[in-house]
Amino acid sequence: MQIWPHKHIHTLANFSIQDYKSVFELANRFDALKNAGTKKIPALQGTLVTSLFFEASTRTKNSFELAAKRLSADVQTFAPSSSSLTKGETIIDTAITYSAMGADTLVIRHSSSYITFEIANKLDAINSKTSILNAGDGLHSHPSQGLLDMYTLVKFFSTKSLNPEILNSKKILIIGDVNHSRVARSNLWALSAFGADIILCGPKTLIPEEFINFFKTPAPNQIDDPVKSRGSITISRSLEESIKIADAIIVLRLQKERMMENLLSSIDSYSLDYGLTPDKLSLNSKEIPILHPGPINRDIEISSKIVDDYPNCLINNQVANGIPIRMALLYLLHKYNK
Ligand code: CP
Repeated sequence: MQIWPHKHIHTLANFSIQDYKSVFELANRFDALKNAGTKKIPALQGTLVTSLFFEASTRTKNSFELAAKRLSADVQTFAPSSSSLTKGETIIDTAITYSAMGADTLVIRHSSSYITFEIANKLDAINSKTSILNAGDGLHSHPSQGLLDMYTLVKFFSTKSLNPEILNSKKILIIGDVNHSRVARSNLWALSAFGADIILCGPKTLIPEEFINFFKTPAPNQIDDPVKSRGSITISRSLEESIKIADAIIVLRLQKERMMENLLSSIDSYSLDYGLTPDKLSLNSKEIPILHPGPINRDIEISSKIVDDYPNCLINNQVANGIPIRMALLYLLHKYNK
């Protein structure tokens, strides 16, 4: 395995092709071990993984904690409502406190974009060895979700060994509220790195034209894109036309508060135009894979019939794949620190 170059994982904007391959090779090995009956391995015995979730989560939080346990790490869970945040302690001081307790990795979710950079800079400045793993920050980034979505698609398309190059020239349709989605941003970095062409489909209020220039907005302090050639981004306002040419679809959750912000005239009209239904899906002649990061709004952005009955609806595969992907990320950060 190549040397892992990142002390912290904030974004996929600074991931090289080799970084993706390192994560996938390891995830695949953890997957194979589990399938052979070895669920738990001692790789991170004696280390401490702390989950600091300042925002709600079902999948990411539990999957990171399970991943850490499968690697035999000690796991510490922070609960904001019963913590000293309620006495006015800052988020940065909370992170410093857990680092001082010996956390090897802090897995952080927070509603503020870029906050994990701020926390990591502060910890680095005091020579802390603790790594930061971003589990979703505001609208900016959700790197483990981007990786597990890509892993799910690569597994679906690979006929023999797992090969991310299989995504080259595949048309991946992302439907919905891209502008408010950290998942979509991480999907864009990941899928384009292996040459997938991405179609963003939704109303102008949720997908502004500026998204065409998305790859010109790298991470803070990042000068170069480590990926020399990326797939394209196009924007479509017609779901029917986009479905006809797609090789895979990622549906995003509609955040209902967007209606209150006057970005949508009504949930019903959004559903009519951009909700994925069996009728619309039948415009594509193949049984293409459907992904959704969850949580889903049934019969708003995606029909229950697709979620429950469509054979290539991969939502549960995404959840399952999140565990080996997160095991790989925790393991690679541990390797960096050794
Ligand atoms: N996909 C995702 O981030 O789900 P949770 O909010 O449940 O973690």
